[in-house]
Amino acid sequence: MTAHAITLRLAVTRDARAIAEMSRDLIESGLGWKYDAGRILHAIDDRETVTLVASDEGRRSLGALAGFAIMEFGEDRAHLVLLAVRPTHRRRGIGRRLLEWLVQSARTAGVRSLHLELRANNEAARAFYRAMGFSETILVPGYYRGRESALRMIRMVSKPVEVPFLWQPPK
Ligand SMILES: CC(C)(COP(=O)(O)OP(=O)(O)OC[C@H]1O[C@@H](n2cnc3c(N)ncnc32)[C@H](O)[C@@H]1OP(=O)(O)O)[C@@H](O)C(=O)NCCC(=O)NCCS
Repeated sequence: MTAHAITLRLAVTRDARAIAEMSRDLIESGLGWKYDAGRILHAIDDRETVTLVASDEGRRSLGALAGFAIMEFGEDRAHLVLLAVRPTHRRRGIGRRLLEWLVQSARTAGVRSLHLELRANNEAARAFYRAMGFSETILVPGYYRGRESALRMIRMVSKPVEVPFLWQPPK
């Protein structure tokens, strides 16, 4: 399997369970299951939220998702709610592709900054987000169920490059 066999697409209703189970097992482990299938369905249906999946074309069966990301879009800010890649598919650039797709969408939508929280002891994700241009801002003690601290991170989004209007009327 190479990263080239992976395609990104918007999530559809039938992806909700697989996404929810990835959130439970890969992100929320030990914290309880907040992002269950109902909540993920809500995100998929919400017009202000993008739910993106990385689909492994080599595995035809439904649920053959290599990863996913959910981002809520506001006027100026966007919030990365969840992002995960299956352990079997990590370090192949899939997380980067998911995030860059969302960054590009945010740029096009005029968003100026991206925000996220992660479990403060999640060293792999910290390294990933730093590599993706995020900076750490504050530590929020007890953010997760009063038990675990969160680290907030931010990435500014540059404006789209303006293409000069070069057309001249014929003389
Ligand atoms: C964090 C996560 C999404 C990264 O996904 P991924 O597809 O493996 O990441 P990529 O392959 O795109 O990595 C891009 C870069 O991030 C950095 N990086 C990614 N994982 C890393 C790790 N475990 N340790 C150090 N750096 C890491 C590297 O610089 C990497 O580039 P390189 O492979 O060329 O060195 C994945 O580890 C994951 O799903 N973790 C569990 C869920 C989670 O913690 N989600 C985030 C909180 S919501």
